[in-house]
Amino acid sequence: MSSADNARYAGRVAVVTGGASGIGAAIVRRLVAEGASVVAGDISADRLAELERELGDRCHGVAADVTSEADVERLVATAVDRFGGLHAGFNVAGGGGGGSLLEQSEEDWRRVLDLCLTGVFLSMKHEGRALREGGGGAIVNIASLNSTVPMFGGSAYCSAKAGVAMLSQCGALELAEHAIRVNTVSPGLTATPLTAALTELPGATEAYLERIPLKRVGSPEEMAAAALYLGSDDAGYVSGANLFVDGAWATSTYPDLRPFLAQLAPPAAGA
Ligand SMILES: NC(=O)c1ccc[n+]([C@@H]2O[C@H](COP(=O)([O-])OP(=O)(O)OC[C@H]3O[C@@H](n4cnc5c(N)ncnc54)[C@H](O)[C@@H]3O)[C@@H](O)[C@H]2O)c1
Repeated sequence: MSSADNARYAGRVAVVTGGASGIGAAIVRRLVAEGASVVAGDISADRLAELERELGDRCHGVAADVTSEADVERLVATAVDRFGGLHAGFNVAGGGGGGSLLEQSEEDWRRVLDLCLTGVFLSMKHEGRALREGGGGAIVNIASLNSTVPMFGGSAYCSAKAGVAMLSQCGALELAEHAIRVNTVSPGLTATPLTAALTELPGATEAYLERIPLKRVGSPEEMAAAALYLGSDDAGYVSGANLFVDGAWATSTYPDLRPFLAQLAPPAAGA
């Protein structure tokens, strides 16, 4: 038996939405490296074609918009037709935009909710049906630190990401009877094209790092590692979890009290 036969995803078939860039592309690359056959869906046909050239026969790209149910249905059907079934769905497509609560247009609000939340619902629905058909599997949804932490200008994005975390929990509850596990990965700041414009502004990365105890930006590969864990048999009893992969950022909303604590008298022994 070769090492590929022993790999965690050997013989498995996966769908990855938003698979042409950033975290999604890192998930596709690692799935192929761990033995899976992958259908990557994205609105960027050019970048999908590049990924196919890079990864070979076990990566197939499908131009698909997650806000269109017909596209999502076709994406999932392609995985089943081409590779013979489905074992895991990774729902990564998403993006930002937005603005102040008082100024954001209804159109823009709906655009963000459609992409980040409805797109995940449609993907879960069609992946879930294919997984049920095959006797079970796993769904991993990518939310964000913003699933629990608000940000300026992020009403639509944060609400959508909180919705993704809840949708995953509803899925974990409802789909368990079909042996389908559903989990969420909530990335912190990750170096991808999505965040590049902001983090390249002078002082912006430093402002983020003040809040991130590990004092560095995460990589798409670190997000992929967490997602592949949750999608694999290693997480066979894990369902309904929201795994924060954020350099401990979620812990740091409290002020740094160390300078103040140092000024207080030490507590009496045994206190
Ligand atoms: N980068 C971060 O710091 C960060 C942090 C938290 C959460 N996230 C989330 O991670 C996910 C991936 O983000 P990323 O940083 O890799 O971004 P990215 O921009 O590098 O990749 C997003 C991909 O989604 C695709 N996409 C956009 N709209 C689509 C649609 N309607 N249908 C199908 N595909 C579509 C894009 O073409 C792109 O390939 C997103 O859901 C994002 O909200 C990112």
